Amino acid sequence: MCGIVGYVGEVGLGERSVEVLLGGLKRLEYRGYDSAGVAVIDADGRLDSRKKAGKLKMLIDDLEATPLVDGRTGIGHTRWATHGGPTDSNAHPHLADDGRLALIHNGIIENFSELKAELVSEGVEFQSETDSEVAAHLVARAYRAGGGDLAEALRMVVNTLHGAFTLLVVHADQPGLVVGARRNSPLVVGLGDGENFMGSDVAAFIAHTRRAMSIGQDQLVSIRPDSVEVVDFEGRPVETTEFEVDWDASAADKGGWSSFMAKEISEEPEAVANTLLGRAVDGAVTLTDLDGVREQLLTVDRVIVIACGTAAYAGILGKYAIEQWARIPVEVELAHEFRYRDPVLDARTLVVSISQSGETMDTLMAVKYAREQGAQVLSICNTQGSTIPRESDAVIYTHAGPEVAVASTKAFVAQGTALFLLGLHLATLRGTLTAEQIAEQVTDLQAIPEKITRVLESSDRIRTLAGWMADTRSVLFLGRHVGYPIALEGALKLKELAYIHAEGFAAGELKHGPIALIEPGQIVFVIVPSPRDPRSLHPKVVSNIQEIRARGARVIAIAEEGDAAVLPFADEVLHIPLAAPLFESLLAVVPLHIFGMELAAAKGLDVDQPRNLAKSVTVE
Ligand code: M6R
Repeated sequence: MCGIVGYVGEVGLGERSVEVLLGGLKRLEYRGYDSAGVAVIDADGRLDSRKKAGKLKMLIDDLEATPLVDGRTGIGHTRWATHGGPTDSNAHPHLADDGRLALIHNGIIENFSELKAELVSEGVEFQSETDSEVAAHLVARAYRAGGGDLAEALRMVVNTLHGAFTLLVVHADQPGLVVGARRNSPLVVGLGDGENFMGSDVAAFIAHTRRAMSIGQDQLVSIRPDSVEVVDFEGRPVETTEFEVDWDASAADKGGWSSFMAKEISEEPEAVANTLLGRAVDGAVTLTDLDGVREQLLTVDRVIVIACGTAAYAGILGKYAIEQWARIPVEVELAHEFRYRDPVLDARTLVVSISQSGETMDTLMAVKYAREQGAQVLSICNTQGSTIPRESDAVIYTHAGPEVAVASTKAFVAQGTALFLLGLHLATLRGTLTAEQIAEQVTDLQAIPEKITRVLESSDRIRTLAGWMADTRSVLFLGRHVGYPIALEGALKLKELAYIHAEGFAAGELKHGPIALIEPGQIVFVIVPSPRDPRSLHPKVVSNIQEIRARGARVIAIAEEGDAAVLPFADEVLHIPLAAPLFESLLAVVPLHIFGMELAAAKGLDVDQPRNLAKSVTVE
């Protein structure tokens, strides 16, 4: 959940570690934003550090008022609190008791109480309530006992820790060296020219280099200005591979938009188009990403989709598509429920994990569990160099570009697109659709980006609507078939952004309970299926609208252009262009993304960094 950055540069590049670290932290702030800090070592071996509760701006202001010594080596951290509240003293870096070593941590050290008790009994005085501080004291002790080998000291210590961690350490005796280690928590190295970087993700160093290297599970890395050395937790050298980040620093900037969220919603057409690029060609779907698992895809008899939050709602779209087109039964399950319920898995089970960040701990653990049980794991992921793809048998990357706002938007439409491609790919392999049927779907899918652009043109109207509703305390969302996950997504956006009670329901469930919630003035969004829908769901949902209207609800319908049947019963209708039934979902979700953002903005809330949340949940 926290953001981590490390830097070392050669003499010729100047004393600029504070600037590099703060730049990295700005791009990582979405990972956690309740406090931040940096530690720097200057050329004379002086270690200086500063940390502040609150958003990164508090630290930056403080450093402007009273600058740190600067140097060419340093570490920086932006925190999402787990152990200990968001205070100055609980912020990272943590210094060892001799003041010569600084450490930052992302994750949870599960056995910290025992370790802390031991240290306290030996006279160590703790400055914070965090689990992380134990690691600082332990590494400093190991360093002193081992004669000054920082990497070896960290290696000794990580072998005594339980839980999830990325740790970065610097020592005053070692200007020009940052050592990092990771277990169940992300760490990526950035390879520069006369300088090297570490980060929780590539955003930490994208302003300086696009060359990167991901660090594997239970590995330890030492960076110097001219070298990167990776060993495993046993101390054995590890072979590494570089990759090139396929976006640049400008993609990770706001680019003139009022918020990252506004920018990312505006990028939804591009997210779909880029995910289709090279994969939907000449009326056919070619997923070369899956060539390595072709045989397995032919024999699987069950699919289980695992994900959390918005990604899980995208997973429901995948269920409907794969079942309809490829005729394989699909279950969708929240990753954290999946792995603790003893699911029955075998080699004929395809587990599809979905994660924007590729670092969500619940999803990662479920992926590992599924593979241990013999299932094939295919991941849909947006982040190169992240952990979930490394732990999977195959990966379909969505090409949505970096998503910085905590609320997921463009990643959702890209995930839906990738799942539709997967459904068509499976149908092609297994011969459950004809080439003509596939070509028809491909043509429809390729038209979606332009149709989303048209939906975006109604943003002003949605803003006005949101402005009227700024005092609303509860909003319900109803949908059927693919409208159901869209209802869930609309409700989640309102909860996380506008802190409003919001629930999404399957419209068919209404009379089984939720209708009791309807009272005069209750706002209900209804995602109306197309009147052309072959399942004849349209009249059923129009009846639902009448039922709730009769009880005083105010209805905002999201309906296809030209759907006259809805007009007499809805207070507002937001129109979306015509699309094939499954793909309507990628259009209907857009007004709800805009609505969540605009309602939060109308309430004066920070839409990019909602309270209590972090972008990727890298702890359980
Ligand atoms: O990075 P992931 O896609 O694995 O993240 C999953 C969820 O944590 C994420 O979608 C979360 O629900 C968002 N805040 C929703 O907007």
